[in-house]
Formats: sequence, C-alpha cells, structure tokens
Amino acid sequence: MQDVPLRVALIGMGTVGTGVARILTDQAERIARRAGRPIEIRRVVVQHVEKSRSVALPNGLITDDLEAVYADKDIDIVLHLVGGLEPARTIMLRLLESGKDVVTANKALLCEHGDEVFRRARELGRTVAYEAAVAGGIPIIAAIGQSMAANQITSIQAIINGTSNFILTEMHEKARPYADVLAEAQRLGYAEADPTMDVDGTDAAQKLVLLSQLAFGTKVPVTAFQRTGIDKLELPDLRNATEFGYRVKLLATARLIQGQLEMHVQPTLVKANQPLAKTSGAFNMVELTGDAVGRLWYSGAGAGEMPTASAVVADLIDMAVGRAQLTFSRLDIWREHAPLPLLPATEVRRRFYLRFNVEDRPHVLADIADILGRHNISIASVIQKEAESAAIPGGPVTVPLVIMTHESTEGAMRDADAELERLKSIRPPRVRIPVAS
Ligand SMILES: NC(=O)c1ccc[n+]([C@@H]2O[C@H](COP(=O)([O-])OP(=O)(O)OC[C@H]3O[C@@H](n4cnc5c(N)ncnc54)[C@H](OP(=O)(O)O)[C@@H]3O)[C@@H](O)[C@H]2O)c1
Repeated sequence: MQDVPLRVALIGMGTVGTGVARILTDQAERIARRAGRPIEIRRVVVQHVEKSRSVALPNGLITDDLEAVYADKDIDIVLHLVGGLEPARTIMLRLLESGKDVVTANKALLCEHGDEVFRRARELGRTVAYEAAVAGGIPIIAAIGQSMAANQITSIQAIINGTSNFILTEMHEKARPYADVLAEAQRLGYAEADPTMDVDGTDAAQKLVLLSQLAFGTKVPVTAFQRTGIDKLELPDLRNATEFGYRVKLLATARLIQGQLEMHVQPTLVKANQPLAKTSGAFNMVELTGDAVGRLWYSGAGAGEMPTASAVVADLIDMAVGRAQLTFSRLDIWREHAPLPLLPATEVRRRFYLRFNVEDRPHVLADIADILGRHNISIASVIQKEAESAAIPGGPVTVPLVIMTHESTEGAMRDADAELERLKSIRPPRVRIPVAS
C-alpha cells in the first residue's frame, strides 16, 4: 500500500455527502486497504458554511469556496454531490477542465447534459463515474457496463422510484387511498416536500434514460417516450389487479424489439409471482435480460444516506485503483453508428387491463366487445360486479366492468378507446393500465 494519500474534495454535504464523509472517516482503514492508499478529505464545499453537520470533520475543512477546489492541484478526485442542473453543470465542467476526475450522484444533470459532460471528459482525458445516480446502492451501472459486457442486453424492466413503490405497496396492502399514503410518505421522509418528479414518473424516466444509454448505446430524450405516474391511480384498480393475480408497479421499461427501442414508464400490472411484483416498500429492483446470461435481478435500497454513499465510495475506490478510468473510456455511450430508432408508442404491443363504469342494462358488454373486436382486440377475461344503486336518485344504475385483453398495440387500444368514449352507456372513469409481458 502506498503512503501518499489520495486527496479528494466533496462538493455537497447533504444526505449523500454526509454518508460519504461518514464512511471515509469511520472506515478509513478499510477504504485505504481497498483503494491501495489512504483517502484524505482535503476540502468540503457547501452552500451554507454555518449549518451544523452530523459528521465530525477537522476544523477548517468546510468551505463555500469552489474556486479553491478548482485551483488546488493536489486534489485528484472530486465527489460531486449537489443536485439540480445549475450550478451543478457548471461545477462539473469546471472540475473536468481543472484536471479532476469526478464521481457524481446527479441523475438529472447526466440525463439532461450527459452528452456534454461525457464528451468534455473524454476530450480532456478525464473520467466521470456515476454508479450512485441510478438506483442508489444497487450496483447497476457496474452490472451493465462491466459484469454483463459479454451480452447484448435485450430488456430492462425496473422499479427505480422508491417513493412511488412505497406508496403503491401501502395502497395494495392497507387499502389506503393515494393522497393519504403520500402524506404519510412525506412525514416519514420517503417523499420530498414537492414529490412531483417522483409521482409523475419523471425521476424514473431520467434513470431509465441513463440505463438505456449504457445498455443500448442510444440516448433518448426523457420527453420522447411515454411517461405516466402513479398520481391518478385508484384503489379499485389495485384491488382488481390483485383479484386477477397481479400487482400494480411503476415500471420503467426499455427493450430491443427488432432493431428498435421500446421505452416507457407507466403503472403496469405485473404477475404477482414475479420478482418485480414482490419488490415492496421503498426498495428498487432492476431486471436485466442478456442474450447469453438470461434474466438477472438486482434489488435493494435505491436511495438514502448510506446506500447511496456506498455507491459513491465504490466509484471512488475504482478511481483510486485505476479501474474506473479504463471502464469509462470503453463505455458504450458514444457509438459512431446511428442510434437505435425509438419504436413509436402506437406500435408497442401489450395486454391491457380496462375498467369501465357501465349502465346495468342488456347489450352493454356486447357493444364494448364489438368495438374492441373491430380493432382486433380480443377479450381474455371479464369481471362484472353486481349493481348497487343509482349514483343519482332515479338515474341509471351503473356497475364496474373489468376486462383483461389479449395482446394488441397501443395504437389499436387508443383508437378503440376513442370509440368507447362515445358510448352513452359508459360513464367515467374509463381506466386503462398495460400488463407487463
Ligand atoms: N438523497 C438520496 O437518497 C439520493 C440518492 C441517489 C442520488 N441522489 C442525488 O445525489 C445528489 C445530492 O443529493 P442529496 O440528497 O445529498 O442533496 P441535499 O441533501 O439537498 O444536499 C445538497 C448539498 O449540496 C450543497 N450545495 C447546494 N448548492 C451548492 C453550491 N452551489 N455549491 C456548493 N454546495 C452546494 C448543499 O449545501 P448546504 O448543506 O450548505 O445546504 C448540500 O450540502 C442529487 O443529485 C441527488 O439526486 C440522492
């Protein structure tokens, strides 16, 4: 082991930075052994220097002076642990230009400006490592970039937003409505004060963009594929899914379909006996299919102080021993040939779960079956509950009708839905949820 320490700076000491500082100080000997030399925290840059911190660091280490990090020639590696796009992007580029290798946990930045960051790093002969940016503690970037290198990955199906998975699990298991569970998730710290990016599918979509870029060599903008969150889901659909033998999960999917890339993030019915369906609470799971290895499942804590810090420190050790530099220059994120085209959303083939509120009178089911049939959508099974009473006194009695279809295209389903909307015997809501294949 070398005596000369590897000097690092942390930019950001919030949730993730605190965990990283904790590992580097509490486990200094273990990390030094694995890195081949001691790691010395040279500076910690934060926004509010006066804020009290829960990890004890030597006096004078915490600063708000970013310029000092850029200028310090002794700092080799910087742990970039700030969120958002700006100033995170400018900080990242300045670090690379100052000759630093960078470990980042910022998925939003890489999703939006990854091309620029990776290109600049490559031009400057620097390395960027980002294991912590997707699925927190789960080593999924290493799995795709290194461990599965002999394979063509053909499919990624993932639960990569812990907040949504926590909410869905509570809704399924305790029959509690969405708004109730969200409020509790905020109280417990599973959900941010503003949970929009989690519950509307944006966070999962950003992570899917990073995974598919690595697996398929194609960068797809987050706005180019279908993205639906969990915020409109209702309890009856979760109950019905259970009756049919499924669980509803916010599933992020990217797969190769005859040379095209199918991508979407949507609430999806997953067979209850599948590992993805059994992933509960704030846990994440990524299911990868490789043409040689078959299916693999990676599961664990997708966020949080120590799990995310575990991924950051693993990247740091990889950089210290020189592995990250070798891997980064060979990553499949900058192909010379044309990127894979995106499969149009209307051509995505799936089965569907449908729920209608229909008037309780003859021919309604026949009318629905006729419309579906004319669009080549065949019915696999139907559940019709008994009528209770009219929603409006003297008005028509309505009953919930639930249909599982055989496989069809999203386009055929949308066309059929436009016709179903005009059927007078169908009252709102009209629910459509895809089924995972
Ligand atoms: N939290 C997780 O579980 C998790 C999991 C995976 C990935 N990530 C990603 O990791 C990154 C950090 O997340 P976090 O949860 O640790 O965030 P956080 O708790 O909000 O902490 C952010 C830190 O950055 C500092 N900071 C903000 N703006 C700065 C600036 N202009 N210059 C210097 N320092 C600045 C803040 O300083 P002050 O402390 O002085 O305010 C704070 O220490 C984000 O990109 C996030 O998406 C987080």
